Amino acid sequence: MIAHPVRRPLRADQVLACTLAFACAAAAAQVSETVDAMIARDIQVAEAQYGQLLDRLRGQPGFPRSVAKGEVVTVGPLDWTAGFFPGTLWYLYEATGEARWRSAATRYTADTAPAKFDKSQHDLGFMLGSGYGNGLRLTGDASYRDAMLAGATTLLTRFNPKVGSIQSWDLWPGSTWAYPVIIDNMMNLELLMWAARASSEARYREVAIAHADTTLKHHFRPDGSSYHLVDYDPQTGAVRGRVTVQGKADGSAWARGQAWGLYGFTMMYRETGKDAYLRQAQKIAAFYMGHPRLPTDKVPYWDFDDPAIPSAPRDAAAAAIASAALLELAGRSEPALARGYRDFAEQTLRSLSSPAYLAAPGTNGGFLLMHATGHKPAGTEIDVPLNYADYYFLEALLRLRAASSGAARTGGTGGTGPSR
Ligand code: GLY
Repeated sequence: MIAHPVRRPLRADQVLACTLAFACAAAAAQVSETVDAMIARDIQVAEAQYGQLLDRLRGQPGFPRSVAKGEVVTVGPLDWTAGFFPGTLWYLYEATGEARWRSAATRYTADTAPAKFDKSQHDLGFMLGSGYGNGLRLTGDASYRDAMLAGATTLLTRFNPKVGSIQSWDLWPGSTWAYPVIIDNMMNLELLMWAARASSEARYREVAIAHADTTLKHHFRPDGSSYHLVDYDPQTGAVRGRVTVQGKADGSAWARGQAWGLYGFTMMYRETGKDAYLRQAQKIAAFYMGHPRLPTDKVPYWDFDDPAIPSAPRDAAAAAIASAALLELAGRSEPALARGYRDFAEQTLRSLSSPAYLAAPGTNGGFLLMHATGHKPAGTEIDVPLNYADYYFLEALLRLRAASSGAARTGGTGGTGPSR
């Protein structure tokens, strides 16, 4: 992990654009702003903030992930969050059409290449789909397709047919688990579904569906909430335990885990048309949206069951992921449910676009959103910016923009561009 000082000032044009945008944000909190105006303002702020981040990084290796002790924290290409930085740059290119974002996205996407052969982790969908996946969708570059296929093939090596799942984490010394699988892993299936289409090889799709079916069977509670981690016996596939690592308690509802599940099952319904996935996504949505401890601004506490609520930290990343997921779910649900999902997502995005969450110009280390929580039990990344909060925030805004213009749009590897 390399830390860079957060000192470089904004250029004068950025300061002016940001100050105007932020003044608008403050005003928008008082008066109602159209969805289109809100999205345009958010993108303007994103351009200024990410321009600042790029300036700060120039010539130095690494991908900005967060801010700690006033300094931007960067990570290497094998960190699970590395791809979100180029992914966000691709979304800025998509949002604006400006060549400078394409060229920055191209450079940082290339820097994530080592991930495609990394057999030691399950996060290749995040790491490759965000950069290479969006790059492929937006440019059609054939080398991106090759990188994605290599990554998908690497990911298959973590599948055990006895369990019917992809192993999330390797066992570390002293670990009592045998085959840990976390709910987040649903997000990596999009890469496999894409690979099945791109290669016409069924094995990618078969593994993705097996993993989703196993998750459906073992990860959920009757109320639609999920356990963070299910540990399996690799010889028999039997469940050995259900625990948490990033949540408050084994039986609690870690907010981001609920958002990953919601997004993952919505995406798998899009990719397969399997009704059980749609029903599960709708069940998760009902749990999340109707939770009595969800704040009125719809940005969840980091865990729905933290006894410290209402003094517990929020997780803006969970809010952004859930918004992106609900906007897709809305497009795949019957009208009465769809309206509720869209309204809820819009309300969440309005909160995230307000000065309570959207960074003031030149602050927040150049990241967009404040108040995300990475790993509360470990005491790390609490109430900070996180690159994946920004990535899914922009994805949700682009989905909202497409929905308000009547276009279908998914982003990542599931886009409607050249990758399909
Ligand atoms: N996949 C790790 C996290 O959501 O923090």
